[in-house]
Amino acid sequence: ETGNLFLDPAFVNTASCDSRITYIDGDNGVLRYRGYPIEQLATHSTYLETAYLVIYGDLPSAAELKTFEERIRRSTLIDERMRDLFRCFPRRSHPMPVLAAGVMALSTFSEKSAGIEPDQVENATDRLIAKMPTLAAFSYKNSVGQPTLYPDNSLSYIENFIRMSFGFPTEAYEFNDEITRALEVLLILHVDHEQNCSTSTVRMVGSSGANLYSAVSAGTNALSGPKHGGANQAVIEMLQGIRDSGMSTREFVSQVKDHKSNVKLMGFGHRIYKNYDPRAAIIKEHADNILKLHSGRQDLLEIAQELEETAMSDDYFRERKLYPNVDFYSGLIYEAMGFPVNMFTVLFAIGRLPGWIAHYREQLATSNKIWRPRQIYTGEQERAYRPVDLRP
Ligand code: SDX
Repeated sequence: ETGNLFLDPAFVNTASCDSRITYIDGDNGVLRYRGYPIEQLATHSTYLETAYLVIYGDLPSAAELKTFEERIRRSTLIDERMRDLFRCFPRRSHPMPVLAAGVMALSTFSEKSAGIEPDQVENATDRLIAKMPTLAAFSYKNSVGQPTLYPDNSLSYIENFIRMSFGFPTEAYEFNDEITRALEVLLILHVDHEQNCSTSTVRMVGSSGANLYSAVSAGTNALSGPKHGGANQAVIEMLQGIRDSGMSTREFVSQVKDHKSNVKLMGFGHRIYKNYDPRAAIIKEHADNILKLHSGRQDLLEIAQELEETAMSDDYFRERKLYPNVDFYSGLIYEAMGFPVNMFTVLFAIGRLPGWIAHYREQLATSNKIWRPRQIYTGEQERAYRPVDLRP
């Protein structure tokens, strides 16, 4: 404590707001959106239904869901000039900054929704949910140097995204129900996670009165870091590194335990979960099923499973309560679907979008106070300015 300020670096013990959206019990591995257990939503719900739940507070009636899906379906196209935006990035740019730029650019294409009046926020909500897969697929196409595809609104939300990512105008794209559902489940599992770094960023930016696009673009950038959403890319790179070097998982775990090496077991550990991340448990099961059928990366799954076993039987991880988190197994499924590693965090961003929107809206409805943390100053006391030629 300094004066009347409490120092809490990295906000380990500070709650920044009240929220009615997501409940986490980190000791027992419990996660609920608006009271509904994540396991039930992952089994029964759809991404758009879960988005509605998280944003509006209750599961929709059949009529409400139909109207919501219609609203989204009508807004999937992006302005033709925005395609030029994608063309101006270097080929093979990482799709994550391209996505963040696309989200920000959207605000300039709709004055109607670039404000904070309720109808503007509602309009921006629809536009962002509808256009995010289009922006993501365009970012992907740019990164592999292929032409972009327009959305096909006769398809479902998930199918549309898969087609824009992998389908070509000249060939009939065959949908695989299992892959489509696995992607939908992954997105549902990522929808919200209370005050994680990117969501807190969205609330921080929103607290200044900036519009939803600005807040979501900032959230996308916050998500990109390897300690946060970027970990799903880092996990696959770690597994590939272990495979290619020929080292055993035990040798790798020894490196991680040696703090000097600065090597982390990516996809492990969490600020809140001191138990198995319930999302990781669901993803692990899907990874097993998907990789059995589409066995591109069975070798990496085996390394991941062995790595988990090795870590979980090691005192270092047990004492610190480090368990697999949401990012440990998700990349294996994305890879089996055919996404390159640099798209994994973009997929996380599509999943997280409804959560960002829900938090932005909750904050706008409940508080108009700007977020402004304090600091403890540890710099120089007052000193006198000396012109440059008089300095030593
Ligand atoms: C996500 O917050 C959210 O909700 C995020 C998220 C969401 O849905 O939004 O769940 C998504 O971001 C998942 C996390 C993805 N990141 C990783 O997988 C990267 C690897 N993990 C970490 O770097 C780390 O565990 C964090 C960032 C996830 C959490 O960091 P904390 O809470 O600040 O914990 P810490 O770094 O202070 O760790 C405590 C101890 C330390 O050891 P000591 O100094 O006490 O000896 O545990 C060690 C750490 O060195 N440790 C690890 C480790 N994670 C923590 N050691 C090796 N490997 C790891 N992965």
